[in-house]
Amino acid sequence: MSTYTEDNRKVTTRRLIEMKERGEKISMLTAYDYSMASIIDQAGMDVILVGDSASNVMVGNITTLPMTLDQMIYHGRSVVNAVKRALVVVDMPFGTASGNPLQSLEYAIRMMKETGADTLKIEGGEEIAPDIKKIIDAGIPVMGHLGLMPQSINKYGTYNVRAKDSVEADKLIKDALLLESIGCYAIVLEKIPAELTKQIASQLSIPIIGIGAGPYADGQVLVMHDMLGINKNFSPKFLRRYADLHSVITDAVQNYIKDVKTSDFPNKEESY
Ligand code: KIV
Repeated sequence: MSTYTEDNRKVTTRRLIEMKERGEKISMLTAYDYSMASIIDQAGMDVILVGDSASNVMVGNITTLPMTLDQMIYHGRSVVNAVKRALVVVDMPFGTASGNPLQSLEYAIRMMKETGADTLKIEGGEEIAPDIKKIIDAGIPVMGHLGLMPQSINKYGTYNVRAKDSVEADKLIKDALLLESIGCYAIVLEKIPAELTKQIASQLSIPIIGIGAGPYADGQVLVMHDMLGINKNFSPKFLRRYADLHSVITDAVQNYIKDVKTSDFPNKEESY
């Protein structure tokens, strides 16, 4: 268990709000499979996000758009099977919450039933608020996602920092207030100026989880492959690498190849 908590109780959406109230930062990291989710959960992570970033780091797509409902369910189920303590959040993939609330609810119910996740995350503000409200009203907790929304990359045409001008910043604040008012229990803010995060986090009672959104968020989220240094080709300013697994894995694999080629492996003790 983590050095930061002795509390082994399952993390709930209510407990995240209590953490904000007492000023305890929320830790969140992505996972997509059983084995990694198990390690991350046992290390004491508060929230595990089955992000549609699976599209990039698991499948090798350039954007998150190709991810399907069935693929997200597959990854979601794999993570849920491993996790005992963390709150498990699964991303609704592109096109599954986009202006048809009844259809969105149908997709959300499928995701909840077939993954066993605790909650869902949905990208978007005012434009899809009716979809989000319908899902929340059906008893499914929703984490919002504003700022840089990778599912809208074709609209923006860039992964640059969002909401640097007052028009976009004002809309972001309005959207965050709206998501809170319709019942979202938390919001991810991605790649926006730190001062804007500070303003929103102090205005809202629900937790703000930042990624590239500065130190004033109530919690932080990173993509697991990036922070573990598995993925060497992605180095945005906001990323802190906590390991160099690319080198660790490369060394291990090269040693294995050498041992096979030289007939060093398997030896007598490793044989029946
Ligand atoms: O899909 C994802 O991993 C995400 C995080 C970047 C917040 O949405």
